[in-house]
Amino acid sequence: HLISAKNLPKVIQEIIFEETNKIKSFYDTCEGRRSLQKTLRDKFGEPLFFRLLFWEPSLRTVCSFQDAIRALGGEYETTQHAGKFSSAAKGEKIIATTRILGKRCDGIIIRHDNKKEQNALKKSADTCEAYNLKTKIINAGDGANEHPTQMLLDMCTIWSLKKHEFLSGNLTYGFIGDIEHSRTIHSNLIALKDYGAKKIYLISEENNNLPDWLVNETKDLPIEKIAYLLEVAPELDIGYFTRYQSERKSQSKYDSAYYAEKFGATDEFIGITKESAFFLHPLPHGKEYREHLDLLDPRFIHHQQADNGFYVRMALIKLMFGRE
Ligand code: CP
Repeated sequence: HLISAKNLPKVIQEIIFEETNKIKSFYDTCEGRRSLQKTLRDKFGEPLFFRLLFWEPSLRTVCSFQDAIRALGGEYETTQHAGKFSSAAKGEKIIATTRILGKRCDGIIIRHDNKKEQNALKKSADTCEAYNLKTKIINAGDGANEHPTQMLLDMCTIWSLKKHEFLSGNLTYGFIGDIEHSRTIHSNLIALKDYGAKKIYLISEENNNLPDWLVNETKDLPIEKIAYLLEVAPELDIGYFTRYQSERKSQSKYDSAYYAEKFGATDEFIGITKESAFFLHPLPHGKEYREHLDLLDPRFIHHQQADNGFYVRMALIKLMFGRE
């Protein structure tokens, strides 16, 4: 199962990144695509079957998983708004859902909101083990906790752009914005424990901090919390912007224009950053990014990053489920 970034040590990630590169080159040839199509087959030659259950909205994650499964010759069904359009709406718990679905599919890819049930992903994976179900669970984002497959595509993007400095732990990172609620930042910090870093700045408002469970987890990283982006902008090798997640706050004190001014890619920010820096964003973005930013400045690589999601998830699924 893939529940947390902790399930993906550096040695496994590097295998996935190498596989991603291989798939990228395969995918450009007719023969390569045909061969990938044979990946997800059972012992009878039938396609493997996946269920995607999404409690929260998604564009990139859901589509890239669907496209990856299709490209590998598998099949899938998707339930969007799973809290409303599955028996979860009638109070069914994740253990019961997993026991039913787990007998009839090879993988369940879940994005959960963790609202009515905490730790739903772990409960689902534990259920598979307890009842000896053949299915494997993949976390596609659980509330404000973690997003391990986004971590994979983020790390793969950095690995392909700055491999040597990345692997030698010699990069300065700035994680900018909603540190408290950004599950992608949480999973990325867990991954960076393995890779190391010269410095990691967490740049956000004073009262927007890492959740308690992550503070201890990341205590050995060279983390510094600061509130003023422009102060460290010239040092950053990798800047990682995030949207302010007002949907996770009962009352937001921010208006989005204020947030964009403080934690956005303003002209002033762009003007003082390193030429060699790269800027990532898991998307979707709010006002902290203007549209076409990537066309104005090629260091903003969020579209390249999002495209990597398809190939990385293909590599992950091939390695987790493929016949070879
Ligand atoms: N980055 C990400 O998880 O995007 P979606 O919410 O669109 O899947």
